[in-house]
Amino acid sequence: MDRPVLARTRAELADLLAPARRQGLEVGFVPTMGALHAGHAGLMRVARDRVGDGPVVVSVFVNPMQFAPGEDLDRYPRTLPDDLEVCAGAGVDIVFAPTVDEVYPGGEPQVTVEPGPLAAVLEGRSRPTHFRGVLVVVAKLFGLVRPDVAVFGQKDFQQLALIRRMAADLCLGVEVVGAETAREPDGLALSSRNRYLDAEQRVEAVTLSRALRAAQEAAAYGVGPALDAARAELRTATIVDVDYLVVTTPELGDLPSDPPPGTEARILIAARVGTTRLIDNLPLLLGTPADHHDS
Ligand code: PAF
Repeated sequence: MDRPVLARTRAELADLLAPARRQGLEVGFVPTMGALHAGHAGLMRVARDRVGDGPVVVSVFVNPMQFAPGEDLDRYPRTLPDDLEVCAGAGVDIVFAPTVDEVYPGGEPQVTVEPGPLAAVLEGRSRPTHFRGVLVVVAKLFGLVRPDVAVFGQKDFQQLALIRRMAADLCLGVEVVGAETAREPDGLALSSRNRYLDAEQRVEAVTLSRALRAAQEAAAYGVGPALDAARAELRTATIVDVDYLVVTTPELGDLPSDPPPGTEARILIAARVGTTRLIDNLPLLLGTPADHHDS
């Protein structure tokens, strides 16, 4: 198990990537904020599979621009030595862990990315500046790494949709791949935030994925029954405070009022469990028995 090489500056990153660029190898990229877990390792393996002999780069950078005042920027776990172990186990070649000054010399950039209407819904309602900060840092990291393929988790489904959209709308020349959500054996989606849950909250947190699974089963009968099944599951929890539970198109648009059988959709949930806000989502196939789904 080779340890990845650590790059702290843009220049070090460029030097490390130069041989692969000369050889015409593809570069794979997994942007992260660290606190890496098995879910991130899965993304790294997807990148590894996609680029073959080419280098896989993981960035570890807690991006201040995507945190509003009062959000958990200072509380966000910083665990670089452990992160390097996770990267080593997943065949990563280069870990890019820059300082804030290295990414934002001179402070916030004057030119930013306008994320458009998709950033105003769902997560954007409670975090109106969040996706602008995400897209700015992802655009900057794409510029520094210049990857051929970048892998993001489907758990942050709205983020994935926006990054896809940015790459397409701004012709960034990178293929954005969405990797399936990794889960605990009981179904809880892996998240760096799960570490904040106490024992009781951890037990109740699984209600989110149970609700989504129940919706998948009931989707054979339509959107209304799917939502009803999810809500019934959520009512069994006592400390889960739901922010939103919605069914959308796979692109996060509005579904037609009477979608025909076989219509693909997505169910998304956000809820506070204690003080920890969790999100999750699953695909739905409307009007079709649920056992044909992936997860
Ligand atoms: O999903 C994350 O960890 C972050 O939002 C990302 C994409 C690395 C940008 O900071």
